[in-house]
Amino acid sequence: MTPNDIRSAAAEILRENDRGAYTVPTKGLYPFQWNWDSCLTALGLAQLDEDRAWTEIETLFAHQWPDGMVPHIVFHVYDDGYFPGPDVWATGRPTPTSGITQPPVAGFALRRLFETATDGEAAKRRARALLGAVDRWHAWFYEMRDPAGEGLVAIIHPWESGRDNSIDWDDAFERVPRDGIAPYTRRDTQHADPDHRPTNAQYDRYLWLVERFRSLGWDNTKLHDASPFQVVDPGFNAILIRSCADLAWLADWLDEPEIARVNRERASRGLAALESLWSAGHGQYLCRDRRTGALIDSPSVGGLLPAFAPISPARAKAIATRIQALAASARYLVPSHDPADPRFSAKRYWRGPTWLIVNYMIADGLTRAGEWETANAIRSASIDLITTGGFAEYYDPHTGEPCGGGRFTWTAAMVLEFLKSAEPQP
Ligand code: GLC
Repeated sequence: MTPNDIRSAAAEILRENDRGAYTVPTKGLYPFQWNWDSCLTALGLAQLDEDRAWTEIETLFAHQWPDGMVPHIVFHVYDDGYFPGPDVWATGRPTPTSGITQPPVAGFALRRLFETATDGEAAKRRARALLGAVDRWHAWFYEMRDPAGEGLVAIIHPWESGRDNSIDWDDAFERVPRDGIAPYTRRDTQHADPDHRPTNAQYDRYLWLVERFRSLGWDNTKLHDASPFQVVDPGFNAILIRSCADLAWLADWLDEPEIARVNRERASRGLAALESLWSAGHGQYLCRDRRTGALIDSPSVGGLLPAFAPISPARAKAIATRIQALAASARYLVPSHDPADPRFSAKRYWRGPTWLIVNYMIADGLTRAGEWETANAIRSASIDLITTGGFAEYYDPHTGEPCGGGRFTWTAAMVLEFLKSAEPQP
């Protein structure tokens, strides 16, 4: 496939999954709007139609909660092909949504759309209209998910991380009961190979948490403390930190000094606190279980994603070194878990496979940090994956075999982004 073949195939997927004012991640498996999917997809859409790209993010934020949270799913239409649907969440929103959130990549996406816009006046108008909403979401995180003021936020459901069944959550998840949940039928395993998906035991626990939060009326002032699962994920926090920093940049441009100041402050406190998650032994960041206070011994890509945040050059170099080491055991960078760990599983979702969105964010950060060689290696692996396996949800990092859903929106958007930028170089 030539770069132009890839571009036109990617554009076709974006058009096919476009529902007018939002895109679905893929037909069948995910028939609604997902939060971080939409923000990253907007970057690819911008290459086809700038106006449509802004709309993607505007639609998501039109469903922001009064308390500031932006939900992980917006159920725009009825579709019983997905479980758990709106009746299970029962969040009582005018347009049904889920009741948890997802990695806050919107601040980053807004800056990117703004910087690359060809229609500068429209970009200013639309960015200005979203600025306050993104700032409120950031404020929500620190208020509701960092009640002790550590500078880092916790996720209270694995789905919030965007890395649903990562090995990172296994131990903390043991604390979540399985009993007492309403009987249910999974739908994901009807669309994708069950061996590539989370297990039934994990699904029970996902639902137990949903039922627990629902029983508390989705009151975010209660959910954090009530959750038996509270994990501080370096990848999630890095995305938040980068979004705060990028929102501050944008607020300066738009002459909103107070929004700039608070977001810069959030980013710098977050960066300082992120250091507490560094593991010299692993040469990367690790998650922390907030319930026990201990670091979680699980070398996943969540601990490499901090490259996306403005971490120090020394830390960026260490992450680049770690990724180069992973290249010895995984043909297609960056595996979502270290293949040397016996818990690694090449095809099971977030327990080993390679995902293009993560590749994109890591490569972007490493490029900014001047780690060209590693950024280039990630970029070429990503393009090779498309050529070998098509536009899959995720890939086996050894063989490049496509896994999960096919004709995937954000995979298409990310490859458009990779192809847009020339090979990073000094
Ligand atoms: C899965 C992924 C999540 C993504 C969603 C829709 O749940 O783990 O990150 O947002 O699918 O693509």
